[in-house]
Amino acid sequence: MSTNVEGQIRIRPLSESDSLEELTDLLHRAYRVLADMGLRFLATHQDVATTRQRVSSGHCFVAEVDDKVVGTICYYEPSRKTGCDYYKKKGVAHVGQLAVEPMQQRLRIATRLMLHAENFARERGMPELALDTAEPAIHLIEWYARMGYKIVGHQQWEVTNYRSVIMSKVLQDS
Ligand SMILES: CC(C)(COP(=O)(O)OP(=O)(O)OC[C@H]1O[C@@H](n2cnc3c(N)ncnc32)[C@H](O)[C@@H]1OP(=O)(O)O)[C@@H](O)C(=O)NCCC(=O)NCCS
Repeated sequence: MSTNVEGQIRIRPLSESDSLEELTDLLHRAYRVLADMGLRFLATHQDVATTRQRVSSGHCFVAEVDDKVVGTICYYEPSRKTGCDYYKKKGVAHVGQLAVEPMQQRLRIATRLMLHAENFARERGMPELALDTAEPAIHLIEWYARMGYKIVGHQQWEVTNYRSVIMSKVLQDS
C-alpha cells in the first residue's frame, strides 16, 4: 500500500451488509499485540455475539481503503447501563473497540477514526469525549494524551485482567 494512503481512507457507518464475523476477526488480529503483552482486552477474544452486542449498543464506524474494511471504532452516548460512572455523566460520550488491521497500521487510519468520532460527538451536542485503555498500555495512553485526552479516573472492568485508565477530552468547536 502507498504511504500516501490518508486521502484514500473513507469512514462510514457499519452497515447491515458488513460481516460481523470479519469484523470480529479484524479485532482479534489487531488486539493480538495487546494479548501478547498479557492484556486481556475483551476484543482480544470476544465472540461474534459480543461484537454484535457492542456495535448495536452504540454507533459503529468502519474505515475503508480500496473498498476493504481496515479499521473500526464504536461511539457511545451516556448510559445508566454501563459499569463505569464516568460514562454515565451527562454530556460525556465515549469511544471503544478501536482497531486497525495490523498490516495497515501507522498510516493515520486510527487518527482519522478518532477525529471522526470527535466530530460525530460535536454534531450530537456532546461537549466531551472519553475512552478507556489498559494502565500498562503506555504507548496508547501517550498517544491519546497527544490527541488531547487527559486522565480523569480509573476503572476495573469485570471482563479484563488489568486496571483501566479513563481519559477524556473537552471538545472545542472544530
Ligand atoms: C492503536 C491503533 C488503533 C493505532 O492505529 P494506527 O492506524 O496505526 O494509528 P495512527 O497511524 O493513526 O497513529 C496514531 C498514533 O499512534 C502512534 N503509534 C501507532 N502504532 C504505535 C505503536 N505500535 N507503538 C507506539 N506508537 C504507535 C503513531 O505514531 C501515532 O502517533 P502520532 O499521531 O503522535 O504521530 C492500532 O495500533 C491497533 O489497532 N492496535 C491494537 C488495538 C488497540 O490498541 N486499540 C486501542 C485500545 S484502547
